[in-house]
Amino acid sequence: MSRTRTALLAAMALVAGAAGTAVAAVPDDVGAQAIPCTVDYKVQNQWSTGFTAAVTVTNNSAAKSSWAVKWSYAGNQQVTSGWNARITQSGTSVTAANESYNGTLATGGSVSFGFQGSYSGTNALPTTFTLDGVTCNVDDGGGGGTDPGTPGAKVDNPYTGAKVYVNPEWSAKAAAEPGGSRISNQPTGVWLDRIAAIEGVGSGMGLRDHLDEALRQKGSGELTIQLVIYNLPGRDCAALASNGELGPTEIDKYKTQYIDPIAAILADSKYAGLRIVTTVEIDSLPNLVTNTGSRPTATPQCDVMKANGNYVKGVGYALNKLGDVPNVYNYVDAGHHGWIGWDDNFGASANTFKEAATAEGATVNDVHGFITNTANYSALKENNFTINSTVGGTSVRESKWVDWNRYVDELSFAQAFRNQLVSVGFNSNIGMLIDTSRNGWGGSARPSGPGATTNVDTFVNGGRYDRRIHIGNWCNQSGAGLGERPKASPEPGIDAYVWMKPPGESDGSSSAIPNDEGKGFDRMCDPTYTGNARNGNNMSGALANAPIAGHWFSAQFQQLMQNAYPAL
Ligand code: GLC
Repeated sequence: MSRTRTALLAAMALVAGAAGTAVAAVPDDVGAQAIPCTVDYKVQNQWSTGFTAAVTVTNNSAAKSSWAVKWSYAGNQQVTSGWNARITQSGTSVTAANESYNGTLATGGSVSFGFQGSYSGTNALPTTFTLDGVTCNVDDGGGGGTDPGTPGAKVDNPYTGAKVYVNPEWSAKAAAEPGGSRISNQPTGVWLDRIAAIEGVGSGMGLRDHLDEALRQKGSGELTIQLVIYNLPGRDCAALASNGELGPTEIDKYKTQYIDPIAAILADSKYAGLRIVTTVEIDSLPNLVTNTGSRPTATPQCDVMKANGNYVKGVGYALNKLGDVPNVYNYVDAGHHGWIGWDDNFGASANTFKEAATAEGATVNDVHGFITNTANYSALKENNFTINSTVGGTSVRESKWVDWNRYVDELSFAQAFRNQLVSVGFNSNIGMLIDTSRNGWGGSARPSGPGATTNVDTFVNGGRYDRRIHIGNWCNQSGAGLGERPKASPEPGIDAYVWMKPPGESDGSSSAIPNDEGKGFDRMCDPTYTGNARNGNNMSGALANAPIAGHWFSAQFQQLMQNAYPAL
């Protein structure tokens, strides 16, 4: 479950000194990124144990007097000899540096070199190249087996030109609801929320069942299947509703009994033609920033997970192992604007993601992008005001609702956070996903225009689509509706709108219900609860009579359809 951990007091103290000064421009412009270099890697000849390859590098940046190109192999390829470059290999990482005679590389200039190598199994093409540490695009226009549709070559956006997998189990539940057939053919995430989900819980579908069904749905076209990796030790440390089966110290079990078996199944060559999107560990890493130490929102459980490092290690391990599978696209969970959109959470969260993405053998090349708003309710676009709006000279940032956040909606946040992630070292071509499963906020309560300009609070509260009592509320929110239907490339920097949280599955029970899944009872799911530090001590806004997290909640499903925006 996503929720706000805003560190409200800290955020306010930090920004209060700036009140009255002009509101800084929001860095939300995701302009076209100049491509600093291109690499064309072609396998020229291939036999059962060896191959030759030709590589051409084009430099689009400043002229160079020496250069080094790097890539890594997903398989056991080993360079045995090279020409026109000095090629060395360490493990799966290869470095090709200029010879004394071809170090000069003008702006717009190209240089070519070649090599021979050995391999066994699949000679998958490398997917990422750097020139002097800067990521290049991959020039796949020239044939030679680099067609993005062939196994081993990742595409920039896995949602482009592909159908997305419809989970038959969710689809059946949706279709069984009155009116549910209007959306039961939409793609939703497949949550691997415990070890048993790999083989299938009870008579339910396991991972191979889903992948086999994905192959059937794929037919001769392209298909993307969306998996949610969600079983960290000490899971959901700032809440109780989605506590999991692994205790805070059970990192080895996470690795060997959860991630390794998933990676082994995904690596089965039978599934090499699928595009497999994995969203990695919802609601974990930002907790280490916002809910630890001296923050008023800290919890003892999050302090434990920060101290033992098992969130960082688990995410790093998952990214590394899953990232080794050539057709897996890892997207790390990045909270939502009502959680890490505050200045004191924004940069620190990006740094924590970088730390995790370089832990346990992972590199930034194992990260294809990030997902925001997973299972949360933050509105996609607030059309009645922006972060730069003012009323009588007072910024909307001073309204109770915005509360000094730097963003008023999920799209502006996701685009700006993408830039932040690139600035801390993630690849410049990462893409964002936004979960729009339940952030529609349509229906009769949806404002038809801006709020009254009496003051910033009337203006914001009268105009905002997000009708939550407080932006920190996260459990089964009353009044929510289905959001944008899943869609590829909707906006710059955004790979897709997705329904990662399957609409109709509860966020948590509204009263204590014994269960064997490790799930607790979080009072944020109780409609009579008056709140805690993480929602500014407001009412929870949760629907009554909810079952435990992940279980079907018919009344919520009906309300989501009722309040869908765009309407069904
Ligand atoms: C919650 C539950 C999990 C379920 C998921 C999707 O996170 O804890 O079991 O799979 O929601 O509904």
